[in-house]
Amino acid sequence: MAKDADRSATLSIGETTIDLPIMSPSLGPDVLDIRKLYAQGDVFTFDPGFTSTASCESDITYIDGDKGELLYRGYPIDQLAENSHFLEVCYLLLYGELPSAQELNKFETLVTRHTMLHEQMTNFFRGFRRDAHPMAIVCGVVGAMSAFYHDSTDISDAHQREVATVRLVAKLPTIVAWAYNYHTGRPLVYPRNDLDYAANFLHMCFSVPCEEYKVNPILSRAMDRIFTLHADHEQNASTSTVRLAGSSGANPFACIAAGVACLWGPAHGGANEAALSMLREIGTVDRIPEYIKKSQDKNDSFRLMGFGHRVYKSYDPRAKVMQETAKEVLELLGVEDNPTLQVAQELEKIALSDPYFIEKKLYPNVDFYSGIILDAMGFPTTMFTPIFALARTVGWISQWKEMIADPSMKIGRPRQLYTGATHRNYVNVEDR
Ligand code: CMC
Repeated sequence: MAKDADRSATLSIGETTIDLPIMSPSLGPDVLDIRKLYAQGDVFTFDPGFTSTASCESDITYIDGDKGELLYRGYPIDQLAENSHFLEVCYLLLYGELPSAQELNKFETLVTRHTMLHEQMTNFFRGFRRDAHPMAIVCGVVGAMSAFYHDSTDISDAHQREVATVRLVAKLPTIVAWAYNYHTGRPLVYPRNDLDYAANFLHMCFSVPCEEYKVNPILSRAMDRIFTLHADHEQNASTSTVRLAGSSGANPFACIAAGVACLWGPAHGGANEAALSMLREIGTVDRIPEYIKKSQDKNDSFRLMGFGHRVYKSYDPRAKVMQETAKEVLELLGVEDNPTLQVAQELEKIALSDPYFIEKKLYPNVDFYSGIILDAMGFPTTMFTPIFALARTVGWISQWKEMIADPSMKIGRPRQLYTGATHRNYVNVEDR
């Protein structure tokens, strides 16, 4: 809980003076409590894109954009990426503390035992066109979970919320892998309980019935890191979408499907796909200046994909870990002289010393290097955003659970600055 306000700011509007309590977070800037503003002052605030508005209280994830710091429940992301693993991070995000060995074992067993999908769901996959984007399939199938798992859709029942949580974390890898299998015309591969979360995902994506597929531990570790780095990111667009959908009382599967839909956009999760396409389009190091120039041209909508962030005005801490992982993976696969990586490294160097990028504080973000790793592992670009969705599901569900358990939860309902026509009378069609 934020500390009770013992300070306030005063706002004067004409003759009226309004006291706005100042709330103190445990980290980060103070927050003005404007909840009574409309009632007392008959005015709204205007903040499209929520650039200065805290939409909720949360104790899950903290970002310091100036320092380039990301904490999950207080733990720095680089420490977690180095020393922990995804399912432990899931436990931390969902329940607030790192688990004991026994708690972790129980949680891992529970998640592992829920990875299968209802068999009838295979028909659902087959209903999609083969050439459908896997993100479209994931969005549809996650939404359809509410039609298959009725016994975990009552949001007022804490046990059902818990069951839905485990189902979502456990089944997303299967859904994403099956979207890929279906999209590429392969058989749907069932999960294997003897593999860990990331290795099982690679197995479901890449194994075929006609030969044995051995998961390389360096690749499964890299996959696990990608999951960990994408697990949560406070009130970003898709998380806010999940919260807004959930605030009406919608069931968890419908809310997470809404988050998947929002994540798809190129300004958000779709940026990893767009970043790799851009690096490939640039192709060679000598063409970089041309693209840098394009990205700075006000009359050109082109942006350097994988650069810039609403909150980070310094190096995205996730991009640092991603860059190291990219090197490890490419070394293992013997493609250190990968031309895309060369373009990426050179582009980063040039952009970081360019006055435009320095002045606007535009640094590489998490999506700049993740595409290179996923591409080297053998994933097509269309799979990049579904993999992000898989990893972010735990963040979405943690934030959704936090909101539902908050007794002060209200339906999210922003106001507007209306600029349309004032009153006018209807005119019959023959008189228009
Ligand atoms: N290339 C060139 N110029 C840029 C870029 C870029 N990638 N990003 C921002 N700018 C410029 C922008 O033109 C604007 O200039 P001006 O002030 O002269 O109008 C200024 O920087 C501020 O940009 P903004 O769009 O107002 O900033 P924002 O906070 O609304 O947008 C962003 C953040 C991530 C949408 C944006 O930086 C962007 O479009 N980046 C490329 C897409 C991308 O990589 N997205 C992934 C984000 S990280 C993963 C995730 O969380 O989903």
